[in-house]
Amino acid sequence: MDFDRPVDRRGTSSLKWEWFKEDVLPMWVADMDFPAPEAVTTALSRRASHPVYGYTLADDSLYEAVQSHLKRHFDWEVKREWILFIPGVVTGFNVAARLLKGGEALGVPTPAYPPFLSVGKNAGREMVKIPLSMENGRLALSRETLEAHCTPETRLLMLCSPHNPGGTLFSREELEDIAAFCAERDMLICSDEIHADLIMDEGKRHVPTASLSPEVAARTMTLRAPSKTFNIPGLGCSMAIISDESLRVRYKAAMDGIVPHVNLMGYEGARAAYIHGEPWLGEVLAYLRSNRDHAYAWLSKMKGIKPLLPEATYLIWMDARDVGVDNPARFFEEHGVGLSDGAYFGAPGWLRLNFACTRAMLDEGLNRMEKAMG
Ligand SMILES: Cc1ncc(COP(=O)(O)O)c(C=O)c1O
Repeated sequence: MDFDRPVDRRGTSSLKWEWFKEDVLPMWVADMDFPAPEAVTTALSRRASHPVYGYTLADDSLYEAVQSHLKRHFDWEVKREWILFIPGVVTGFNVAARLLKGGEALGVPTPAYPPFLSVGKNAGREMVKIPLSMENGRLALSRETLEAHCTPETRLLMLCSPHNPGGTLFSREELEDIAAFCAERDMLICSDEIHADLIMDEGKRHVPTASLSPEVAARTMTLRAPSKTFNIPGLGCSMAIISDESLRVRYKAAMDGIVPHVNLMGYEGARAAYIHGEPWLGEVLAYLRSNRDHAYAWLSKMKGIKPLLPEATYLIWMDARDVGVDNPARFFEEHGVGLSDGAYFGAPGWLRLNFACTRAMLDEGLNRMEKAMG
């Protein structure tokens, strides 16, 4: 696929493209400006041509495609009955918080993808913030940090692995330490792995938390989706994967009557993406890796900007506190670049840039940033 060819998304009610004024380049919310794999478009068109859009089941071929993807990419064997289809990962982690009893709290490593920061309030449970530490220009979650911040009441860890916005790809050893801590405290783990297929450090591999051991799996609810991987987030098809039967029963009970079905186009898109999207994924990763290196190198040279090199995700998290303006997000917006404001992630003065766009648009955005600072 020619990812250099721009696709005009204006007029499609795109959240990303309609948010800012027309002269602002949107480089914020996490979707890509690239067409989805052709097989997805073909499958959706074929399904749309059948005029009855009734309640729809996930069929065998979809379960098999998911299982085979997880085995192939992560060497993770998942049984069909562990997989629950849900309409969103955000829904999935809000459901997880509803497993806590009164008086129990949940721990959220910060900075955090903004919806994590409202989960406690939504569930009527206390949220404990766990500030990630900066180690050699990388956000890390050490055992010491967990010990320092988790109270005895903290019974659920909201892990985002790989990490958005920091781009950290947690290693097996790091995950083992985190899981060991959770085991000692008898804490549940909700592992949001929505960015797991988007590894920017070629040759490195994402380790699913639940694949560490059956004991870790027994306390883990994994959330996944084809949405970031294949750029189909508007289709609303995600999954909770829970191996422990009693945990799964509790999770399903918390969903009951609240969480709607996945829509039929979500299933169609997911199936086509997992079965036929592999070559597209390989190509888009190559393009994204090149964009990452390019953007990181350029941002590193900008005075006042300190970017982190993302090991995973198509997002660059950067410290803009030395730019010398009150509100860097507003400043760059006024200069024609729409970035995510770190304040919503719990880190005022930081910014997040989405580089999943054509190289030409990335260059234009970076140019505008550079010019803005004079
Ligand atoms: C870490 C993380 N979780 C969840 C989501 C959203 O997932 P969904 O659209 O399935 O609710 C995003 C989207 O950016 C994300 O970055």
